[in-house]
Amino acid sequence: MNKKTTFLLITSVALALATSGNLYAAVDDADAEKLLKDSKCLKCHDVEKTKKGKPYKKIAAEYKGKATAKAELIKHVTEPNQVEVEGEKVDHGTVKTRDAERINNLIDWILAR
Ligand code: HEC
Repeated sequence: MNKKTTFLLITSVALALATSGNLYAAVDDADAEKLLKDSKCLKCHDVEKTKKGKPYKKIAAEYKGKATAKAELIKHVTEPNQVEVEGEKVDHGTVKTRDAERINNLIDWILAR
């Protein structure tokens, strides 16, 4: 690889990272999706469609630019709480892991929808 090709490669990788909306760490999609599946979140949430809970895209839009978004959402999926489904209070699910890195990755994934 000559110098020019190397430069172009580095520039395009940097550009891809900068435009992906997450400058800090690449989101591990596979792990986020596995955690959602294992925690049965998909029973009530879809990325695009409204099920019992709202779509992750909508949640991402609502929390966009909010400084406390991550802290609030982490709390929401790790501490038992109740939500309303068809007018009835039901227990909201929590993620089936205590691994902070995986939870963090999941919230980054949701916010990047
Ligand atoms: C019983 C159905 C159900 C399950 C299971 C469920 N959710 Fe929810 N979730 C809801 C409802 C209902 C709300 C309240 C707001 C809404 O979506 O209408 C909500 C809210 C949320 C919110 C916050 C939205 C906000 O505006 O504050 C997040 C994030 C979320 N869910 C993620 C998850 C994750 C991650 C899981 C798996 C651990 C999960 N949910 C499991 C039904 C569910």
